[in-house]
Amino acid sequence: PAIAQDATATIHVNKGTNKIYKEIYGQFAEHLGSCIYGGLWVGTNSQIPNTQGYRTDVLKALKDLKVPVLRWPGGCFADEYHWTDGIGPREQRPKMQNNNWGGTIEDNSFGTHEFLNLCELLGTEPYISGNVGSGTVEELAKWVEYMTSDGDTPMANLRRKNGREKSWNVKFLGVGNESWGCGGSMRPEYYADLYRRYSTYCRNYDGHNLYKIASGASDYDYNWTKVLMNQIGNHMNGISLHYYTVKDWSDHKGSALKFDDQDYYTTIGKCLQIEDVIKKHETIMDQKDPNKKIGLLVDEWGTWWDEEPGTIRGHLYQQNSMRDAMVAALSLNVFQRHTDRIRMANIAQVVNVLQSMILTDTKGTGHMVLTPTYHVFRMYKGFQEATYLPMDVKCDSMDVKGGKMHKMVDGKIPAISISAAKKTDGGIIISLANTNLEKNQTVEINLDGAAAKNITGEILTSKNIQDYNDFEHPEVVKPVAFKSIKAKKNTITAKIPSKSIVVLNIN
Ligand code: AHR
Repeated sequence: PAIAQDATATIHVNKGTNKIYKEIYGQFAEHLGSCIYGGLWVGTNSQIPNTQGYRTDVLKALKDLKVPVLRWPGGCFADEYHWTDGIGPREQRPKMQNNNWGGTIEDNSFGTHEFLNLCELLGTEPYISGNVGSGTVEELAKWVEYMTSDGDTPMANLRRKNGREKSWNVKFLGVGNESWGCGGSMRPEYYADLYRRYSTYCRNYDGHNLYKIASGASDYDYNWTKVLMNQIGNHMNGISLHYYTVKDWSDHKGSALKFDDQDYYTTIGKCLQIEDVIKKHETIMDQKDPNKKIGLLVDEWGTWWDEEPGTIRGHLYQQNSMRDAMVAALSLNVFQRHTDRIRMANIAQVVNVLQSMILTDTKGTGHMVLTPTYHVFRMYKGFQEATYLPMDVKCDSMDVKGGKMHKMVDGKIPAISISAAKKTDGGIIISLANTNLEKNQTVEINLDGAAAKNITGEILTSKNIQDYNDFEHPEVVKPVAFKSIKAKKNTITAKIPSKSIVVLNIN
């Protein structure tokens, strides 16, 4: 790539209109590998310190992250999950085989109560993914009743018998997952009808108001969105979209840690291509819904690499480097820009699976490590519910080749990615990512009249883009205070080192 030049940005601090939904920083927990068992949940009899069965260390790390929403139980798992197997006394619950993910036998000790109570402990909104692929209308309708009815109804009474008096606060309900694939291999026309049928019987009980989400497209499948917009329309509150930064869908997705500069730039190019994909889905949605009432929920996104050598096949356990952190920052900046349509996004997944926040040692040593991606989410907390600020940016760009990346076209990567918002407390938050591997970037930020004072900053960077954290070296990549700032009147000049992510807060 060509050497980049320095950049300028003018942030229009008084022209923000759209709120950045906190749910854009959402997480996803599937029954997959050791995301649930060994990740979030170890059970009350475990040697590993736990709080009512949840790993205490993971619980604390997630509380610090201020997780706004957590999607569960899948993914592909959701369309084979029968919720009644996961309630009642744990020792009496039937076992099941996780057919999607390595054929692992699970004991159903983590079910509806364990999930929804976890959300309460974390102060997180639950997002339930319902079974349409192999479950019945009755089954899904009763699950909704079980979770949200406060009346003298059969399911509410069953819940009470199982120890929970009051309904849980459940708003987000997915009606199937990847119904074009693992969720039933359906055609969009057929799924649209099934959606209408299943969702009809998901009732709003006792003051609850469900936000119903149709199972949306895989990345470039624009026809799926078109058919659902035409045939489901206002029967849905939102439609999902899945987009992975993946090389291809074969067994050769590339190593999470062993990659060269060219691989890095191609990955960044593929990651940024999500913006074009989002725009195309938005254009289709705009035709039927110009007032943007229907939300677009990117409820699965992130990097997908080869499983780490020596780990269980089908468990999707991968390491996480500074490259993944860069993908996280750039993707969040894109979602923020499209906040008029994007209602939620859920990175896949929260613990031990794909681009996770946390890795745990499930062999019983009790170790836990925070990934570089975790640190990005923590640094971005101030964006939750802030008002997106439009801006004009000038920066250099680097040429990138699509190479062998799935559907990736040759293009350009901006050397600097910037996003800014006015926080709920009136302060301004700015994120800056320098995507160049070699060159530092001096960025001049004009605040369009607002005073450049009381600025604090944090930076996440590393010596090598391949750097990562593991149980022996948990703090190789971690944020530190950022001091390379000069402020004068309405202008901030910040020197952003190569391959780094900076978040500034102006109070
Ligand atoms: O996140 C892993 C899997 O990716 C999910 O189960 C599925 O929905 C998607 O294909």
